[in-house]
Amino acid sequence: MKSSTTILAIASWASCGIVAAKPIDDHKPALLHGLQIEDLDSYSPPFYPSPWMNPRAEGWEDAYQKARDFVSQLTLLEKVNLTTGVGWQNGPCVGNTGSVPRLGFKGLCLQDSPQGVRFADYVSAFTSSQMAAATFDKTVLYERGVAMAQEHKGKGITVQLGPVAGPMGRAPEGGRNWEGFSPDPVLNGIAMAETIKGMQDTGVVACAKHYVGNEQEHFRQTGEAADHGYIIAESISSNIDDRTMHEMYLWPFADAVRAGVGSFMCSYNQINNSYGCQNSHTLNKLLKSELGFQGFVMSDWQAQHSGVSSALAGLDMTMPGDTVFDSGFSFWGSNLTIAVLNGTVPEWRIDDMAMRIMAAYFKVGLTIEDQPDVNFNSWTFDTYGYKYFYSKQDYEKVNWHVDVRANHAKQIRETAAKGTVLLKNVDGALPLKQPHFVAVVGEDAGPNPKGPNGCADRGCDEGTLAMGWGSGTTQFPFLVTPDSAIQAKVLEYGGRYESIFDNYDGSAISALVSQPDATCIVFGNADSGEGYITVDGNWGDRNNLTLWQNADEVIRNVSSLCNNTIVVLHTVGPVLLNDYYEHPNITAIVWAGLPGEESGNALVDILWGSVNPAGRTPFTWGKSREDYGTDVMYVPNNGNQAPQQLFSEGIFLDYRHFDQAGIDPIYEFGHGLSYTTFSYTDLRVVKKHARPYRPTTGNTIQAPVIGPLPSQFLSDYQFPSDFKYIPTYIYPYLNSTESLRAASEDPQYGSTAFIPPHALDGNPQPLNPAGDPVTSGGNSMLYDELYEVTAKITNTGGLAGDEVVQLYVNLGGDNPPRQLRAFDRMHLLPGESKTFRANLTRRDLSNWDVKTQNWRVIKSAKEVYVGRSSRDLPLRARLEAW
Ligand SMILES: *[C@@H]1O[C@H](CO)[C@@H](O)[C@H](O)[C@H]1NC(C)=O
Ligand SMILES: *[C@@H]1O[C@H](CO)[C@@H](O)[C@H](O)[C@H]1NC(C)=O
Ligand SMILES: *[C@@H]1O[C@H](CO)[C@@H](O)[C@H](O)[C@H]1NC(C)=O
Ligand SMILES: *[C@@H]1O[C@H](CO)[C@@H](O)[C@H](O)[C@H]1NC(C)=O
Ligand SMILES: *[C@@H]1O[C@H](CO)[C@@H](O)[C@H](O)[C@H]1NC(C)=O
Ligand SMILES: *[C@@H]1O[C@H](CO)[C@@H](O)[C@H](O)[C@H]1NC(C)=O
Ligand SMILES: *[C@@H]1O[C@H](CO)[C@@H](O)[C@H](O)[C@H]1NC(C)=O
Ligand SMILES: *[C@@H]1O[C@H](CO)[C@@H](O)[C@H](O)[C@H]1NC(C)=O
Ligand SMILES: *[C@@H]1O[C@H](CO)[C@@H](O)[C@H](O)[C@H]1NC(C)=O
Ligand SMILES: *[C@@H]1O[C@H](CO)[C@@H](O)[C@H](O)[C@H]1NC(C)=O
Repeated sequence: MKSSTTILAIASWASCGIVAAKPIDDHKPALLHGLQIEDLDSYSPPFYPSPWMNPRAEGWEDAYQKARDFVSQLTLLEKVNLTTGVGWQNGPCVGNTGSVPRLGFKGLCLQDSPQGVRFADYVSAFTSSQMAAATFDKTVLYERGVAMAQEHKGKGITVQLGPVAGPMGRAPEGGRNWEGFSPDPVLNGIAMAETIKGMQDTGVVACAKHYVGNEQEHFRQTGEAADHGYIIAESISSNIDDRTMHEMYLWPFADAVRAGVGSFMCSYNQINNSYGCQNSHTLNKLLKSELGFQGFVMSDWQAQHSGVSSALAGLDMTMPGDTVFDSGFSFWGSNLTIAVLNGTVPEWRIDDMAMRIMAAYFKVGLTIEDQPDVNFNSWTFDTYGYKYFYSKQDYEKVNWHVDVRANHAKQIRETAAKGTVLLKNVDGALPLKQPHFVAVVGEDAGPNPKGPNGCADRGCDEGTLAMGWGSGTTQFPFLVTPDSAIQAKVLEYGGRYESIFDNYDGSAISALVSQPDATCIVFGNADSGEGYITVDGNWGDRNNLTLWQNADEVIRNVSSLCNNTIVVLHTVGPVLLNDYYEHPNITAIVWAGLPGEESGNALVDILWGSVNPAGRTPFTWGKSREDYGTDVMYVPNNGNQAPQQLFSEGIFLDYRHFDQAGIDPIYEFGHGLSYTTFSYTDLRVVKKHARPYRPTTGNTIQAPVIGPLPSQFLSDYQFPSDFKYIPTYIYPYLNSTESLRAASEDPQYGSTAFIPPHALDGNPQPLNPAGDPVTSGGNSMLYDELYEVTAKITNTGGLAGDEVVQLYVNLGGDNPPRQLRAFDRMHLLPGESKTFRANLTRRDLSNWDVKTQNWRVIKSAKEVYVGRSSRDLPLRARLEAW
């Protein structure tokens, strides 16, 4: 550590510098105006200092050494450059960090989205993550991650901004649920881990987002709220109790850390009245201490609200770098340089930021020598354009139009077919044989008249729905509509085919579907997306759980006239099917999710049976929105202060709630039919030998200070004399005249009062008892196997098919009646039997104990169930006490 005299010497000059990050207090509860809530003290307990990397962390050893070798050569300005984005639209990607030209490091290119490459041509439009989750197929999830990362890599991207574990889908109306996987934390976590492994094995850094409690679009940002006429001082606060945090919202993020994810993105919302990007409890304590996360945390775009405070609370990178898009100012950049020089951000902290960023880079196999060049530009499809788009500087070649799609279309078609859920099928209505006359009805079957990319960021609901809207999107390279694919199929065998897309032309529809012997396929959809776009009055989140485009009326009318009506739904989550799911003329209902570019082809594969369906619904289909017990907050509940979203339902989300409250859904979580049948027999549970759980003890190492001490000469931090300054670009350099002027106007200057106790302490710190000295994802003993469960699954029908075998537990006490813990998608030929196997780990059987701040297997009778959905569980056994 540098001597205190040095700090003071620098501080006395530099602290008259750039205005401080506004001290936003981490530990102060917000005032709650007249709120009738029991939990008035939802605040986030402080946790400092911010944990530094662990050189022993398993899986990171090499990356740590490489990062150390690199970072030890860096100057302070260069380290700051790594941590700070260059400003919105000042580089080719949606996020670009500064570079280190002296050592030939080009900086990071961070690009949306979790569904493929955003803002680029010749890329694939993958299925939504939610639909990929519906495959319940680990191999599919992994391969989807590989394919998406191959496309990112091919465009020169280093960090793909996905996958998404938040939103989990607390409210079915949540706008971005489809970008993530499932409100079940176990399915969600397995999907996160497989996707991350696929991406990072391909050489792209994955980003687990949005951490944490980011469950709705309304009020996530004050500016967006103001656009809708709501003036609120701060973003919505997700108030989550400790047990719920561990057993639900943190769970899939723990799997992400355990899978070795390189980066995290902190969210717009507050958690217990402290912003996601400066919450020392969620970042320092839960993520870096308890889970032992070794990568870096970046802010969501404009989710940073402070400079020094966020650095001390565990943020490692600010995105896109500017305080407000294109303001030219940053909480970091030159502010961070000053803060390190005057000692308010310790040198070990900036070193740790740089270490985490570079370790993630090296961990996925990237090198300094062999860096990819970014070969596209997010802000134009033209071949020539401005390198610095916002400030219109440097006109040059910016797009090479590299086609990165390879054979991914085939894989996307397979994923979409495997994720399609057959909800209802009466008397073998499906698969279709060779119906003479197929009548397709519904706007959702046809093209968007403006083209598949006709609405910016897919912000409209016209034509067939294959992707939601917002930043989680890609450009369609083509979109095979259901209409074109079904027509091609029917013509192949010489059938007759007609389709109507106008959902308001009742007479044309009735004239078509009342003709004799029609097989009628009716389409409906429900869309949602990110909160910066409003579609048909839906501000990101859905306003209701019914279908869009008048589709409910179309379905009602068609089914009253056509006795073989097949309903196909493209939706972002559950919709209310009450009116027609039992209708005798509706012979089949198919959930086709958000299938991406191969929509129609994948649907034909299911309808005509070239793929035997085995997708399972990754959420519950209730009879009313009230039945879910959770909803979006549409109107602020706290005056002009931060809206307070109480997660008072705790761990009872989705089917956990339906089961607990005794509410019958229409289709339960995990439900999905097949064209064949399966039997479940021979359940066996074998208790394994495992050591007793031991909380971790001991200390971390001392915070390392890496590389040479920063220069004490302020002239070393100024813009180089011959520097070509790009307007609004964010730099690490100081602007001495500006700095001095700002300082003389700032009465608060020099105050350290806002620095939380221990935040500057680089001494060895106690290890987290629920964490681990070596492994990531929590105490390694949580993953000890306590039981092995096996069962015999037999295909008893006449057709080859996949079966998604699901294992649930009842942990007793105040736990939900059933919780998913494992699953496997197995392929079985007619008559064939296979053994389903799963291990139950200590984590699977534990509850988070708030008192001891650790996991604990409570004393209670426990049961295990194996079956084909959360409510169809033919096999059960008691678990012998552990
Ligand atoms: C040091 O600099 C930072 C960033 O400009 C500022 O927030 C802080 O108030 C300064 N602290 C001191 C003690 O000068
Ligand atoms: C430093 O941060 C403050 C906010 O704390 C901001 O107002 C100011 O513009 C920043 N300075 C620079 C040079 O970006
Ligand atoms: C939020 O506050 C509750 C108590 O109201 C506490 O149990 C929990 O740990 C806090 N969570 C965070 C992230 O601060
Ligand atoms: C910081 O990054 C910018 C943008 O890439 C670059 O122009 C500048 O030279 C870098 N500064 C240092 C000190 O490396
Ligand atoms: C539905 O049927 C009603 C009654 O026949 C008719 O008025 C209406 O136009 C029809 N709507 C559609 C979309 O078919
Ligand atoms: C449906 O109606 C057709 C006439 O259009 C008839 O031939 C057929 O038997 C009916 N099917 C059922 C299941 O009622
Ligand atoms: C639900 O929202 C959609 C989309 O805005 C709209 O088309 C539909 O009419 C709404 N449903 C009801 C019952 O209001
Ligand atoms: C089912 O369709 C037939 C036409 O095939 C129609 O006559 C009948 O009323 C429909 N049933 C219902 C319940 O709508
Ligand atoms: C530096 O000063 C120039 C002009 O004095 C100003 O345009 C620019 O925004 C300043 N940059 C920073 C980082 O403060
Ligand atoms: C269960 O654990 C055993 C022993 O670690 C391992 O060999 C086996 O692959 C595991 N089974 C599953 C399905 O993960």
